[in-house]
Amino acid sequence: MTGWTPDRIAALKGAHKVVCLTAYDYSTARIVDETGVHLILVGDSLGMTMLGYDTTLPVTMQDMLHHTSAVVRGVTHALVVADMPFLSYQASAEEAIRNAGRFLKEAGAGAVKIEGGAFRAPVLEALRENGIPVMGHIGLTPQSIRRFGSYKVQGRDREQARRLIQDAGALAAAGVFAIVLECVPAAVAEAITQSVPVPTVGIGAGPKCDGQILVTHDLLGLYPGATPRFVKRYAELGAKMKDALEAYKHDVEEGRFPGPEHCY
Ligand code: KIV
Repeated sequence: MTGWTPDRIAALKGAHKVVCLTAYDYSTARIVDETGVHLILVGDSLGMTMLGYDTTLPVTMQDMLHHTSAVVRGVTHALVVADMPFLSYQASAEEAIRNAGRFLKEAGAGAVKIEGGAFRAPVLEALRENGIPVMGHIGLTPQSIRRFGSYKVQGRDREQARRLIQDAGALAAAGVFAIVLECVPAAVAEAITQSVPVPTVGIGAGPKCDGQILVTHDLLGLYPGATPRFVKRYAELGAKMKDALEAYKHDVEEGRFPGPEHCY
């Protein structure tokens, strides 16, 4: 059992910024947890960063359970939230309960995350009633990429912005403990943040959200694909890894590794 619970995170609203990051494996999860972040998301973004897909759509329950279990083994403080993959919760509330329950029961997660607005309220209520804490996710919801056509900012016009505010209210009423706002204009995210009683966690949604999340691979420079504008790169670990691996290759080729200190 980890220290941060959904209720404790919800109580941070207005008191402290909610700091969140992603992790997909044991070693990274340990390092991320040691920083003291409140929440670690096992995002279905692992479809791209770990598995090399173009979108999150091919990610399966099996993929998510496998990675969530590994992260849980590395975490002692943060709340571990498992992202429910495409088609694991859309067909019916019953299927959503069964699949979400597996993340708590088999992988040891503390909560799940589900994409979608007001139309998702019945499923969110069913999960809450069955003891499964849920984090919402609105704005740019990557599992709807085929409907959006591209990864673009959501809520730019008045009508879209009004709908996002309504969606956030419906999610909060359905009992989510926090809401991810992805790629939403900063002013809209601020209005949503002021209108709901639970923390908003922004990614590309400006500084007025109650918290922030980034994909750890993006901020460390580990993902070779394009970096979205909303990412701040805190390190270039991909380049550093390549330098280290090349040094190893040269050492082996030139007989410098292994040295006497590495031999029995
Ligand atoms: O899958 C993911 O990593 C996410 C975050 C970007 C919020 O959903």
